[in-house]
Amino acid sequence: MNGDSFLDLLSQRRSVRAFTAQPVPHAVLERLVQAAITAPSPTNRQPWRFAVVTKAELRQRITEAVRDRAEEMKAIIRKGHHAEDFGQYGDFFHEPLSTAAAIIVPQYRVYPDLIANLVASGGGDPTKFHTAASMQAELCSTSAACMALLLQSQAEGLGACWMSGPMIGRDEIQRLLDIRDPWKMVGAIAVGYPDQLPTKQPRKPLAQVVSWFEDDAEPREAQK
Ligand SMILES: Cc1cc2nc3c(=O)[nH]c(=O)nc-3n(C[C@H](O)[C@H](O)[C@H](O)COP(=O)(O)O)c2cc1C
Repeated sequence: MNGDSFLDLLSQRRSVRAFTAQPVPHAVLERLVQAAITAPSPTNRQPWRFAVVTKAELRQRITEAVRDRAEEMKAIIRKGHHAEDFGQYGDFFHEPLSTAAAIIVPQYRVYPDLIANLVASGGGDPTKFHTAASMQAELCSTSAACMALLLQSQAEGLGACWMSGPMIGRDEIQRLLDIRDPWKMVGAIAVGYPDQLPTKQPRKPLAQVVSWFEDDAEPREAQK
């Protein structure tokens, strides 16, 4: 695989929101998590965990927990001036979960800020330094793990959708999956064999998202 073909693979990934009833074999789900844990993390702390739910009754309870809270929220929004703007958007909170053969709930935990403690031990004021905590490094690492899991899903012929919508049912989902402090869920990933091929979502042009700081003499073309 070269740079172009890898970029091509990345560009073909889509968020898939509807799945067939075909179950995903345990060994395949294990590979998804294997892929996730290849992600980098500060001092290799690996601040992540994953609940992999295929049990039908539990998937249903998770989906219902999200749907119920979304309906509750929709009813409130309908009373205001933005009911039209919100429209059916609330369905995106739970819909992909309803047909997913597996629901994967990534979790992260925060570790004590070692560098800040070292600064304090030397008599310094840790608040005078931006450390890993200032970029929520554990959450970043877990997000990187989620992206690896999405790409492995694609390579396995699966579809997947990483969703923040399920956060609305966080308390109930954490209770159902016994997720306790210091662990926190990072949305949920719906996984299954795709029942639809979603259209490609546009991306902003590079010029809008990159600032280049280069020397004039730097090569413009890739070296062969
Ligand atoms: C952190 C995160 C949260 C998301 N939450 C939802 C969600 O709750 N429901 C949903 O249907 N899609 C959700 N998505 C998928 C996005 O809508 C999707 O990535 C975006 O529209 C771009 O489409 P693509 O992934 O097919 O390129 C989420 C994606 C990310 C990364």
